Amino acid sequence: MLTLTDRPSLHAWVGGHRRAQRRIGLVPTMGALHPGHLSLVGEARGRCDVVVLSVFVNPLQFGPNEDYQRYPRDLERDRALAGQSGVDALFLPTVDMMYPPGSEVRVLPGSAALLWEGAVRPGHFEGVLTVVAKLLHLVQPDVAVFGQKDIQQATLVRQMVRDLDFPVEVAVSPTVREPDGLALSSRNAYLTPEERGQALGLHRALQAADQAWRAGEHRSEGIEAAVRERLQMFPGVTADYIAIVNPETLRPISRVERGTIIAVAGRVGRTRLLDNLILGMEFR
Ligand code: PAJ
Repeated sequence: MLTLTDRPSLHAWVGGHRRAQRRIGLVPTMGALHPGHLSLVGEARGRCDVVVLSVFVNPLQFGPNEDYQRYPRDLERDRALAGQSGVDALFLPTVDMMYPPGSEVRVLPGSAALLWEGAVRPGHFEGVLTVVAKLLHLVQPDVAVFGQKDIQQATLVRQMVRDLDFPVEVAVSPTVREPDGLALSSRNAYLTPEERGQALGLHRALQAADQAWRAGEHRSEGIEAAVRERLQMFPGVTADYIAIVNPETLRPISRVERGTIIAVAGRVGRTRLLDNLILGMEFR
């Protein structure tokens, strides 16, 4: 596995593969890799000839009181895991390379970025889309793979690619979970054992929604009530939102159907966690 840290070496590597007409897959991450990230690598492998995994903790997408400084960083572990999972090149840009002094232009996301995560984290998606746009230009992949776990992010990236004519296919890969159902997240590392138990509430609440839907509940209020009722069994979780939304617009809908997204976000202690399900899709 190659490690690429500067523009010239990335450029040479990308150029070689493009001339050889190999399909390039990109998996953007902020590191602290776990099996969720590695499943995206598998998805990229299945669709492409070579896979680039980027690790960059993007300062632009963190708010002033968020966890940018304490975000988990373990490059040696990430390197080992990426190597084992079939990554061809690890791209490790520095903050200076991505945002040199004087870099001011940003990507303005669509209005769906003002909802849900965007309402709780103002400016977050502007930071995400700006870094993703830069990574897409630098790596010039045929396919870029994102996780369903961050479904609003994946949707906004799709919109950017569509609205700004990026020549790339966006693939979205299912959420990888712990055996008990907790969605894997780099931020799970922050949880104390007690908080870890409470964190399961998000998954349990989504299961309640899924069960209610399968039992014939098609009203959004009915589904939301099922989610709230289950969350009450996890007093350590403070819900930020329960979103029952159209998958294209991310706007609330009153009648749920196959394809409707149910997304929950909440805080457990100081840690913010997200999870979601798409009705009618496999969910355990
Ligand atoms: P990060 O949180 O490191 O996540 C990188 C990718 O892994 C995202 O596409 C995310 O949705 C996916 N992912 C995280 N947990 C997952 C899980 N349990 N199962 C499947 N996929 C999972 O998301 C970011 O980084 C950043 O915002 C980034 C896109 C890299 C831009 O900075």
